[in-house]
Amino acid sequence: MGGPRRAVEPGAAIRSGAEAGGRPREPVSVTMATASDIDRIAELEELAFGPEAWSRDLVAAELTGPDRRYFVAETAGRFQGYAGIFLGLDSAEVMPIAVAPDRQGQGIGRRLMEALLAEARTAGVGQVFLEVADGSAAAIGLYRSLGFEQIGRRRAYYQPSGRDALVMRLTM
Ligand SMILES: CC(C)(COP(=O)(O)OP(=O)(O)OC[C@H]1O[C@@H](n2cnc3c(N)ncnc32)[C@H](O)[C@@H]1OP(=O)(O)O)[C@@H](O)C(=O)NCCC(=O)NCCS
Repeated sequence: MGGPRRAVEPGAAIRSGAEAGGRPREPVSVTMATASDIDRIAELEELAFGPEAWSRDLVAAELTGPDRRYFVAETAGRFQGYAGIFLGLDSAEVMPIAVAPDRQGQGIGRRLMEALLAEARTAGVGQVFLEVADGSAAAIGLYRSLGFEQIGRRRAYYQPSGRDALVMRLTM
């Protein structure tokens, strides 16, 4: 999603985060991202996507770009994740989404996706698209649970990993 650079390596840190399981003790707050979030979003982007992460400059351009909406999730005032969506005339595209490794599997990604889909509904688009790296079980499970269906595959879409992207679509 968000261009041919997504790398979703389900690495050890991410697995150990998922193993923490359960819902967060503190309530999750999801709010619109601002320019003050650029650094922490760029840091998590790097942690989540490694060599295929967006640069800080690209994160900054995205956050302030037209027709984009980015959200941050916090628990007890601590940054835990972010997600964005591009709103076109008839359709929308989910951009990056990532949750801090030690807070994954606690419902935060779902809350962020719900915020994006609420934006898509408000904008009145008929369809929402996304790309996700093949084999990214948590992300694919999240998208399927929200009604996304696979409609295609882009071979070797992610570089340098060479992983395929699955193209998914949600009809609103
Ligand atoms: C993908 C990601 C954003 C999901 O966020 P999360 O907070 O861990 O997900 P949630 O706890 O909200 O889980 C929501 C749903 O996703 C699915 N899911 C979560 N972890 C899963 C796993 N390991 N395997 C399969 N499905 C999973 C489930 O359907 C879950 O719903 P449930 O808890 O009601 O069963 C997060 O794991 C992440 O940041 N991963 C690394 C970056 C990444 O892959 N981003 C996606 C780019 S396309």
